[in-house]
This record gives sequence, C-alpha cells and structure tokens, in this order.
Amino acid sequence: MRDKIQKILSDIEVFNAETKDSLEKFRIEYLSKKGVIAGLFNDFKQVAPEMRKEMGIMLNDLKTRAQNIIDEQQKKFENTQTATESVDMTMPVESVSGTIHPLTIVRNEINTIFERLGFVISEGPEIEDDFHVFSALNFPPDHPARDMQDTFFVTKAPDVVLRTHTSSVQVRAMEKGKLPIRIIAPGRVFRNEAISARAHCIFHQIEGLYIDENVSFADLKQTLYHFVKEFFGEDTKVRFRPSYFPFTETSAEMDISCKICGGKGCNVCKHTGWVEILGCGICDPNILKSSGIDSEKYTGFAFGMGIERIAMLKYQINDLRLFFENDIRFLKQFEQA
Ligand code: DAH
Repeated sequence: MRDKIQKILSDIEVFNAETKDSLEKFRIEYLSKKGVIAGLFNDFKQVAPEMRKEMGIMLNDLKTRAQNIIDEQQKKFENTQTATESVDMTMPVESVSGTIHPLTIVRNEINTIFERLGFVISEGPEIEDDFHVFSALNFPPDHPARDMQDTFFVTKAPDVVLRTHTSSVQVRAMEKGKLPIRIIAPGRVFRNEAISARAHCIFHQIEGLYIDENVSFADLKQTLYHFVKEFFGEDTKVRFRPSYFPFTETSAEMDISCKICGGKGCNVCKHTGWVEILGCGICDPNILKSSGIDSEKYTGFAFGMGIERIAMLKYQINDLRLFFENDIRFLKQFEQA
C-alpha cells in the first residue's frame, strides 16, 4: 500500500490542468466517491493493525494534497472567459450607473460662472507648510487669529499642516510673480472640528483672487453680486457685513437672503432671514509686498466660500454629513438627464 500511495503522490504532483475540464476530470479520477483515493480507503480495512497508524497518516496526507492541487489550479480559471462568452469591447454601454456628486455639480457650476468672467482655475497642495497657510497670510506665530481654524498638524519643525483653507493657493499664485492674477481655487480643506449636521473635519472651499491695477471694493461687490444672481437667481438679496480676516483690509462677510424660507425666518437662517455664504475683502498691501508685488501700483480683492454651505442652500439639505456618507438613495436624487 505504501508504494501505491507514493506512486499516486508522484503522479498528482506533476499534474498541470490546461483547461477547466481537465481539472474536473482529475477531481473525479482521484477524489470522487469512486475515485482512486476512495479505493485506497477501502483497501485500508485490510491493512495489518501495526501498519494502520502510518498508512492512515499517509492516506490522509495524500487526500489533502490532491485537494490542495485542485484548489491551487482552480485559480487559473477564475475570471477568465472562454471563447464563447467573450465580450465585445466596442459595444456601446447600456446605461452608466453612478451619478455626479452634488458637491461636484455645485463646484462645476461655480467654476463656470467665474470662468466666464475670466478667472482661471488654480490649485495647490492639501498638505501644506505653515508659511502658505498662515504666516504669508499675516497670521503671525502665536497670534490668536490662528484659533479661528483648528488645525491638523502633520509635522512640527518644519511645520507641515493639512491646509485649513484654500487661501494658501492665493500665496502660491502670487509667488509665481505673473500679473495680473485672476484665479479661482477649488479644493478640499481640513479642520479639527467635531462632526455634526453643520460642521465636518473635511470640507470644500472655492477661493478667488483678483490682482490688477485699480481693483477696488466696488469691483469685488459687483463680481460677487453677479455670482449670486447667476447661481441663486435674480430675486436673491445680498448684504455685506464688516468682518476681520488677517489677509484682507477692508474685510467683509457676505450674506444672501435665506433660500430655504425665502427670508421669512427658519432654523437654517436662525430666524434672521439671512445666511452667510462667504468671506471677502481687499488684499492687505502687506501681503502683496511680501510676495514681491508693488502694492502702490497693484491692488486686489479675494474671497472664499464653502461649497457644502452653498450646496445645502441650493438643494435645501439640512445635514452636511449626507455629503460624505455615500448613501445611494441620497446620491440618486442628483441624477442628471
Ligand atoms: N479663508 C477664510 C476662511 O476659511 C475665508 C476667506 C475670507 C477667504 C476672506 C478669503 C477672504 O479669500 O478674502 O475662513
């Protein structure tokens, strides 16, 4: 019996299935109920008692080995199609499953409005150094203005952070030294915020920067009025409130009449009828100077808005977390024709 087992073992070791069928034949030959190995188990009854232990182990090993060979070779035939079921890759797709994410729809719409005004899309890294996120924008080290944005630090000395706002792209655009500048910078930003219906630790902003000769606050207002009317409709009211940002002087925040209640007052606008949608201002001359721009000759304006906030107003969504959960029932509602 020992010789028989060894002979079978050396036979199966060299077996190489070329097709699925030959593998199945192998299985039937060795492992089926009437197969070679089952036959050996039958013969086992006649084995002398003193040999049983050794033969038993050999037989079991043989069976396991045969099964392993099948399992290993099976992998060759998974995911491969036979000639009869081949796919014609040139056929048109029947339907595309998947929809454009609402944040992408909104971002694209905003981009388009500004592109029509001559703004060009610009980008910067999400993992940034302290200089571009803070110092160059007039947030000195240890200045309380840094508390406005609770920061994720990647490394200390050199200070590397996840950017807390897309304003860092302003600095990168100015560094390039080409004037005039007229950019918008959409992108992802990160803040160490507790996740709630109104806040998330990852969100999206669009930054705008326009630097040229004779740029004034009137230009800023007109540009943003135009954007609001295009995006939210002609009947949308706009107001500016004085504010503070370290990199703009004058600084303002812009509110629009609440799109959820039409200005009557609701939870979203905290019963004021107004919702803040962006921060903006005239670029502080110090910022221009530190990037080597002649601040006597050039002036500029900047603005930054949160894409989630704008999408919530547009689609009347009251929980920001929905944007990140990828619930297909939510996403399907934004299917475009
Ligand atoms: N970066 C500011 C923030 O995230 C928003 C902002 C305010 C951007 C004023 C600007 C600006 O460009 O001029 O809170």
